Amino acid sequence: MKKKPPTSNPQHPTSNVSRPTLVSGIQPSGRLHLGNYLGALKNFVDLQNSDKYDCYFFIADLHSLTESASGRINPKEKSKQILGLTADFIAAGLDPQKSVIFQQSQIPAHSELAFILNTITPMGELSRMTQFKEKSEAEKENSNTGLFTYPTLMAADILLYNAKFVPVGNDQDQHLELARTLARKFNARFGKTFTEPQGLHAQTPRVMSLGNPEKKMSKSLPETCLFMDDSPEIIKSKIKRAVTDSESVIKYSPETKPAISNLLTIYSAISGETIPEIEKEFKNKTYSEFKSSLAEAVIKHLAPIQKKKRLTSNVQLRTILNRGSEVAAKIANKKISEVKSKIGISI
Ligand code: ADP
Ligand code: TRP
Repeated sequence: MKKKPPTSNPQHPTSNVSRPTLVSGIQPSGRLHLGNYLGALKNFVDLQNSDKYDCYFFIADLHSLTESASGRINPKEKSKQILGLTADFIAAGLDPQKSVIFQQSQIPAHSELAFILNTITPMGELSRMTQFKEKSEAEKENSNTGLFTYPTLMAADILLYNAKFVPVGNDQDQHLELARTLARKFNARFGKTFTEPQGLHAQTPRVMSLGNPEKKMSKSLPETCLFMDDSPEIIKSKIKRAVTDSESVIKYSPETKPAISNLLTIYSAISGETIPEIEKEFKNKTYSEFKSSLAEAVIKHLAPIQKKKRLTSNVQLRTILNRGSEVAAKIANKKISEVKSKIGISI
């Protein structure tokens, strides 16, 4: 019998071969929309099913606390959001038999490593972060310290697991670059401890708003955003009202026709057809016909996901998160012990 090759991580449910580790997380901060799905979650599912990686996907609940100044966190709402996002993970196709699915806050090593990384991160690096600048500017009274140190916690999330790959939207590139810088800096100072991670972008890294193709689709503009749990009627009406460009040709040209190009991108990501195939199919059709077909395609794609989400129970979801967190904790604890020993605080 052939001997099994060494495994990179014996804890992983499918790890019988040596595969690179892949880690990513999403904040539980409200309903998921099609931008989150096409830019992040659907990509997670595809990467999981490629069988090329040891996958770890987590609910970034600590990160999500930075969205509201601590006085305004609604505890009931927060736990609902955590279970709701776990249900989205499962309904979209993440599978606890194939990936480790866990909750960030269940593993204290994330916060511990984040603090240690803070001590090697210059303030200047964090003040330059676009996300920090935008969010602290947008909500001045909510500019908490957690928002400032958000990127070092994200670096900890990644570095604890020796992640080689990190699928994220392109809005997270700057944070990922910091994780690489910190890995290098720590390794140079204390000896090789961390792997330098690399970003992986989805095919659709940026879905734009249905109301303004210059802005990204975001839950802060709910009328121009397609939510994963929107009913067929709402999907039809939102797509019908989506802005289009002048001259009614269905052609992909992000520079000159950003609105229709965005709709074509969504159609392609949802249907799996290429953009030239779709352009050909709708060559002599009107915008209105194209929009009806797009709405039908979105409704058809989301229906089984919505159904599966309704069928998951909170008991199942808690079990998945608790089991996954146990597995992840073993790896994270090993790494944090190594870090403590390297910096001289384990006596
Ligand atoms: P929102 O902008 O709605 O608040 P988040 O910032 O919570 O969304 O993003 C969660 C994940 O979804 C991230 O990985 C982010 O890159 C991705 N994402 C968010 N909006 C979009 C979008 N419009 N297009 C593509 N990906 C997106
Ligand atoms: N910052 C990411 C976002 O807003 C979420 C996140 C937290 C993350 N920690 C991570 C993504 C680690 C990848 C890896 O989307």
